[in-house]
Amino acid sequence: MSTTYADKTASATGKYVGRAVDRVDGPAKTTGEARFAAEYPYPGLAYAALVHATIPRGRLTAVDTAAALAVRGVIDVLTHENAPPMKPAPKVSFLDLSTLVSGTPVNYLATDEVHWNGQPVAVVVAETPETARYAASLVRPAYEELPAAVDFAAEEGNAVPQKGNLISEAAADKGDAPAALATAAHSVDLTFSTPPHHHNAIEPHATTAVWDGDRLTVHEAAQNIAWTRRHLAQRFGVPEKGVRVLSPYVGGGFGGKGSVWAGTLLAVLAARATGRPVRLALTREGVYHTVGGRTPSTQRVALGSDADGRLTALIHTSVSRTGRAGGMGEPITAGTRHLYASPNIHLRQNVVQLDLLANTFMRAPGESIGTFAVESAMDELACELGLDPIELRLRNEPDRDPVGGQRLAHRRLREAYALGAERFGWSTRDPRPGVMRDGRWLVGMGVATAYHPSMRMPANVTVRLGADGTVVVRCGLQEMGMGTATVQAQIAADELGVPLESVRFEYGDSDLPSGPGAGGSAQTASAAAGVLDACDKLRRTLLGLARRVPGSPLRGVRPEDLEARDGGLYHAGRGQTYAEILAAAGRGHVEAESRAGMLGFMVRTLRERRQWVRAATGAQFCEVRVDPDTMEVRVSRWLGVFDVGTVINARTAASQLRGGIVMGIGMALSEQTLIDHRDGRIVNASLSEYHVPVHADIPRIDVQWLNEPDSTMPLGLRGIGEVSITGAAAAVANAVRHATGRRVLDLPITLDKLMG
Ligand code: MOS
Repeated sequence: MSTTYADKTASATGKYVGRAVDRVDGPAKTTGEARFAAEYPYPGLAYAALVHATIPRGRLTAVDTAAALAVRGVIDVLTHENAPPMKPAPKVSFLDLSTLVSGTPVNYLATDEVHWNGQPVAVVVAETPETARYAASLVRPAYEELPAAVDFAAEEGNAVPQKGNLISEAAADKGDAPAALATAAHSVDLTFSTPPHHHNAIEPHATTAVWDGDRLTVHEAAQNIAWTRRHLAQRFGVPEKGVRVLSPYVGGGFGGKGSVWAGTLLAVLAARATGRPVRLALTREGVYHTVGGRTPSTQRVALGSDADGRLTALIHTSVSRTGRAGGMGEPITAGTRHLYASPNIHLRQNVVQLDLLANTFMRAPGESIGTFAVESAMDELACELGLDPIELRLRNEPDRDPVGGQRLAHRRLREAYALGAERFGWSTRDPRPGVMRDGRWLVGMGVATAYHPSMRMPANVTVRLGADGTVVVRCGLQEMGMGTATVQAQIAADELGVPLESVRFEYGDSDLPSGPGAGGSAQTASAAAGVLDACDKLRRTLLGLARRVPGSPLRGVRPEDLEARDGGLYHAGRGQTYAEILAAAGRGHVEAESRAGMLGFMVRTLRERRQWVRAATGAQFCEVRVDPDTMEVRVSRWLGVFDVGTVINARTAASQLRGGIVMGIGMALSEQTLIDHRDGRIVNASLSEYHVPVHADIPRIDVQWLNEPDSTMPLGLRGIGEVSITGAAAAVANAVRHATGRRVLDLPITLDKLMG
């Protein structure tokens, strides 16, 4: 029997969990007291700047550094000819998950090979950042060019079947989907395309690296400090325990800070080579050239149904790209396995390698762009059938996993759509396209389903209670602005029955017990399991101390009957405060630890995968207004109703869910990374030319959740970091279809695609 955590809710008084608690790190951030990776002062600090290759593929024949070295204030220029060596990146293996942070296997400055346009080929270290950047502009690499494949559209025909891995299969077959499609009463068969995207966190990547002999301290903008530490120890051949990665504040990541990229490695290398503390803060353009973004995709979705709209065939195939030097095949059809009860399903993922920077994780890799295609196709099938698009989805809602047959842990999509339809006023929608108007604007309403799997990772946590009533919770996780630090403090406060103000949560330091990464929407549940376990152990320790004291009202009380409240332990109205227990026991503090081994974790994960399919889901409702002359699209209303289990903090959860929707609107209407097909150069590597939504683009976003615990998850909570970007682009496309009668298959939906 796999563990269920439903019982773990019993001990919580619920004073803080579920409330809209202010962020514990809010004051530090708003007053500027919070220091980010590029803000740590060190005596003798030097500054590094990168020189980027300007060809997509080839070899360096020479790097002329004379002019750069002649600039006053330049300390050194490192190239493949003089840089100290780094060890090669470890091969990615699921036996050591830390290997997942190798963004690319390219061994910077240890090779004369150029693998993408923008690859760092030299590092300038100088006394000021301005000097470093100016001198970097004077470095002249010379190349021998090799033929390169950089155009996804031209190369996608060379794609090969993608390999699956432990957490994501790359193909599925159930029944005979092509045959069922051919004989279906109704069908659609559409080909979609999505462009490359970049993360654009508000804080560009930055590293401050300091060596002291073999000991290394790195201030880093990271989503996984434990794996970053291990990676750096391996690359620089030093003991892991001598490496300390500090990342207390991170200005957004979205997956872009989930790997160790060039800036981090080269800052550490430059510090070692010069014997100085070195800071390397990437420019926005530098982020584009050294941190992988999201793959472009081409996707075919073909759906067949009977006369009533019950699916008889579901086909979803995809082509994505990686880099010839690294990257991960994006699991574009991964969500489609679980969405609809079709007797015939065919899923395939294909991938082509290009001479571009490795792609990487970006918010809901797979589901973000996969749901755009599937949920657009479902909308088109609804049009074909003359059926309401919500009704079509409800008719195909599965009772068990459509491919694997497992039980669905807590799926409430029907309820999400019912609540959403009511709240959004779906019944006011005239199903005919192009007839709803607001003055001269065309009005359209669209829906789409959101889907993202719920995962957990191992987390080690300690909890310490002092005689002064202070609780210190330690876990080396990351806070990128999502509310992580706040929600874990809320959980600990409730578990121990103490005021939130007396809980200090320490995180963002690799010297702490190793925590989960901020990725896969898994961090909150992973750490919560550790906090619950450590608090449980702490209560038992306190009870043990209390029971030893003659006359204690807790003598004879069983741990499971305890109530932690008002700064103490109680049963049936009688009990003792923690201060009394510690004083009677002559102890200054007590501490408890929760440890999670990787092996046990993997075994349990695989066993659970056979039993359960677990996911956060949601119903996205979008209303657009389209100018009938210019075809300008404005999103005018949004509602997302999510089934995400227990919500720990109403404020930070709402903010997370809204953020994903904003990113989905960007994906729908404006975001695209443009690559010069001649030389593989990113041509819009800036926020002035890569258009993320701004305030004026975003209406008030109404987010709701069903707030029913998922009994298979700690405290009944599911991750919420990614689910709300999924389905969002399709909801926009479907609303545009409703407003204009035009189905746009190619993101982003720019004016030109709606004209003529
Ligand atoms: Mo994410 S793409 O799991 O940071």
